Amino acid sequence: MKDTVILVVTGSVAAYKSALLARRLMERGLLVKVAMTASAERFITPLTFEALTGLPVLRAGFPQSGQAPMEHINFSRGARLVVIAPATANTLGKLAHGVADDSILSMLLACGLPVMAAPAMNTQMYKHPAVQSNISTLAARGVTFIGPSSGSLACGEEGEGKMEDVETIFAAVMEKLGGVKDLAGARLLVTAGGCQEPIDPVRYIGNRSSGKMGLAVARVAAGRGAEVTLVAAHMEPSLPGTGTPEGIRVIRAQTAVEMQEAVRQEFVRCDILVMAAAVSDYRVESPAAEKVKKKSAMRLDLIENPDILASVALEKGDRVVAGFAAETEDHLASGRKKLMAKNLDLIVINDVSRGDIGFGSDYNEVTLLTRDGKKIEIARATKDVVAGAVLDHAAAIWRASQAMEQPEAS
Ligand code: C5P
Repeated sequence: MKDTVILVVTGSVAAYKSALLARRLMERGLLVKVAMTASAERFITPLTFEALTGLPVLRAGFPQSGQAPMEHINFSRGARLVVIAPATANTLGKLAHGVADDSILSMLLACGLPVMAAPAMNTQMYKHPAVQSNISTLAARGVTFIGPSSGSLACGEEGEGKMEDVETIFAAVMEKLGGVKDLAGARLLVTAGGCQEPIDPVRYIGNRSSGKMGLAVARVAAGRGAEVTLVAAHMEPSLPGTGTPEGIRVIRAQTAVEMQEAVRQEFVRCDILVMAAAVSDYRVESPAAEKVKKKSAMRLDLIENPDILASVALEKGDRVVAGFAAETEDHLASGRKKLMAKNLDLIVINDVSRGDIGFGSDYNEVTLLTRDGKKIEIARATKDVVAGAVLDHAAAIWRASQAMEQPEAS
């Protein structure tokens, strides 16, 4: 039996994003039942949601004679939670004061479910004491607010009031639901951190990778029920400090060659490889056995390291292989080239020239490219949210390849 979520759409320009939210929730295996206020229907039609979800939409008008009279009561039966996205000042105000002048508000008052709300409105409206007081009332009653964020609003102004990004709302809903084990049965191999290539016993050539992105992929996958093996190079902060979660088997690998050995050994037993480690492209040809004495100049002869990802992806069979591309220029073109050249199913491209995301940060903003030509932009969000999106797409490719392999008996 699938978990059911009620998505309430109210009348804001952001309503078009609710269609994407519905799709994301369904991709995670949830049943999505949509309810729309009358003003929401001025921005997006019920038909859009009916086509997407395959289920009838609860509309604002009270039932006419001959129609199911208790639909606003029955609609939410068996659901796990309600998410109002976008949530207008009007609907929040009515809900705070127990107004039930349409089917949607009646359903909200009658459902008895946990409610989450993603406000969307003009900055001045959002800051108005009446709206703030309604939000406080609802929060005190247990409503969870997601956002709003700041940015350019549909009214042309800049400021707080923008509906939170779809991925962030989606992740908040999933967290609230907890325990959705949609990756149970999948075996994930994840690499993380920056390789270090020794120059001598005390010095090395390294890079700025913190390992946070790969660790987020491992942690989120394990939380969703996958069996996870993490091949970890240098992590910042170090792995025990980052709290290796239960259920993740960790193999340490300092250099590219060590990482290649670990990946080769584990690859045969995995379904999905996510290669988030920053592997050194070069290593010192002959590292010194003793600490090199200080001198006025020093010359290092470097040789090329193996490309781990490209080498295993050559023999990937029906495994799904995802790589990362840390780029400073021509991101998409370079990423697409790597996707093809390394025989990947998916590549996650990030712009490492930006200081507010990427290296060491808890945030990232990426573009995913798939082998079958999809391009998915993930707006700036926590690395956990980005990891969730990467896993969704990798898992979708994996499930599709499995479905092709095992045609249903007719
Ligand atoms: O070619 P580039 O280093 O940009 O490719 C990045 C992707 O390839 C990452 O997923 C990284 O983990 C992987 N890689 C690898 N072996 C290397 C270099 C990169 O597996 N020697």
